[in-house]
Amino acid sequence: MMSKKDLAQANLENLYRIFTVPEAPDSTLGMIDQAISDNVTGFLQEHVVALERELEEIEKDFADSRIPEDPTFVSEYTEFVKEKLVAQSVHTAAPGFVGHMTSALPYFMLPLSRIMTALNQNLVKVETSKAFTPMERQVLAMLHRLVYQQDDSFYPQWIHKSQHALGAFCSGGTIANITALWVARNRLCGPQEGFAGIAQEGLARALQHLDCAGLAVLVSRRGHYSLGKAADLLGIGRDNLVLVDTDDQNRIDLQQLKTHCRRLQEQRIRPLAIVGIAGTTETGNIDPLNQLADIAEEIGCHFHVDAAWGGPTLFSGTYRHLLSGIERADSVTLDAHKQLYVPMGAGMVLFKDPTALSAIEHHAAYILRHGAKDLGSHTLEGSRPGKSMLVHAGLSIIGRNGYELLMDLGIERAKQFAGKVQQHPDFELITEPELNILTYRYNPAWAQTALQQASAEQQNQANELLDQIIRLMQKYQREAGKTFVSRTRLRSARYQQKIITVFRVVLANPLTTEEIINAVLKEQTELVLRDEIQDLLIALKAMLPSAAGSTRSAG
Ligand SMILES: Cc1ncc(COP(=O)(O)O)c(C=O)c1O
Repeated sequence: MMSKKDLAQANLENLYRIFTVPEAPDSTLGMIDQAISDNVTGFLQEHVVALERELEEIEKDFADSRIPEDPTFVSEYTEFVKEKLVAQSVHTAAPGFVGHMTSALPYFMLPLSRIMTALNQNLVKVETSKAFTPMERQVLAMLHRLVYQQDDSFYPQWIHKSQHALGAFCSGGTIANITALWVARNRLCGPQEGFAGIAQEGLARALQHLDCAGLAVLVSRRGHYSLGKAADLLGIGRDNLVLVDTDDQNRIDLQQLKTHCRRLQEQRIRPLAIVGIAGTTETGNIDPLNQLADIAEEIGCHFHVDAAWGGPTLFSGTYRHLLSGIERADSVTLDAHKQLYVPMGAGMVLFKDPTALSAIEHHAAYILRHGAKDLGSHTLEGSRPGKSMLVHAGLSIIGRNGYELLMDLGIERAKQFAGKVQQHPDFELITEPELNILTYRYNPAWAQTALQQASAEQQNQANELLDQIIRLMQKYQREAGKTFVSRTRLRSARYQQKIITVFRVVLANPLTTEEIINAVLKEQTELVLRDEIQDLLIALKAMLPSAAGSTRSAG
């Protein structure tokens, strides 16, 4: 038996090894690493889920709250990762995974991520990031230029200017949206005579100073829920996040927006910002950005565009015009981990005015000193990884033309998918793709015909049954693990603005071919033959007027 002292020494040596000795290539860790890098197993490509196990079952593998006392071998732990994590992960890179905004990554992101991890830079300050700070500033300038298209003389003045930044790099769209509204709030309630500013004196004093009863943010009903978090955090209150109705194309209704602005004025509530969406999360539609810019100008408030999803469409010569007016926004959110094809945890907010971020500037004595070029003085987050390196890699390796191809391909595939839905008698297209997102539902031809003659009450009942059918189909498809679409609930103009359940498809993976689109739809028509769905279809037929034909014709 080892003495206590020897054991402590052995543990210490093992600990040193963990930090210094790399894994042998034939170890489990080395093999997994190699398999994922080479993609030889096809594992991450071919299946949406590797092994279907109930979540409750998986939770049992993660039920122990005690921290292990003693060190373990890396190889042992890696076995655990292989069996309990890798095998139970959702393979978001599979080309049949067309339900969410997370898709395939270019292969070079993986080795470059390892370099980034190995360097372990902290972008909060130059002292811990050196070249990474200018590189991140360059990334912000490149994307600023994509959005705002300032000329060659503008950028050299601002890219590396201490005290300022063209934007804030962050972990995603949520933090980007919060940062944008934080800047808007602090600018509206900035220091003035007799008032040291909201950052110093708080919201109550700011409202007194502005002589108003509250602040409001206006966005369409399709706005991302991160805006609710922003309203809450910034003290505006979720009730003052005004959700404006949309038109039949899921775009903000401008008349309704103006009516809300008048109401707010009567209630002495000051509009802090109007938010336009360039690619709504659920349907991919784009608000009329130019008209929103006009209204924001007229009422004198900040104009923010949430282009977390649709921003990279600006790369496309064919579709860029859809975002016309974005260059008039005071701030713009972009998510790099969406359509810039960077791994999770990378987003940014850009500001038209390069001095705007001064409104949230923060200094500390030991870092972030006045006059330093540290990016941490303008970000909500503190310590941050060098993720911008991966955006830099994408922009450099894929280039403008490469991103243009990706954007065009996604939109064209979405149109192709929509065309197939429209041609199929038993599917109903709910929202056409403006970008690369569409929604549809299963609704057998006989039911579609009968619904046209049905009373409003019958339509409601029928839609409730169809909702159940869509929910079951989506669940069965997810469980089968071959292909995946998501589902959401949308107000439908065709059914008196009633909310219905629909499939949602996001076509961002360039490896999603026409064959895969066919497979998604074919699988759905086969799922309909399951007993539980057939029972619902029989109930649907029984309640609809003069529904002719057979439920079994569905396949
Ligand atoms: C339009 C929009 N804005 C903001 C977000 C939030 O982004 P994140 O999940 O990166 O925080 C999303 C995410 O889906 C989005 O679609």
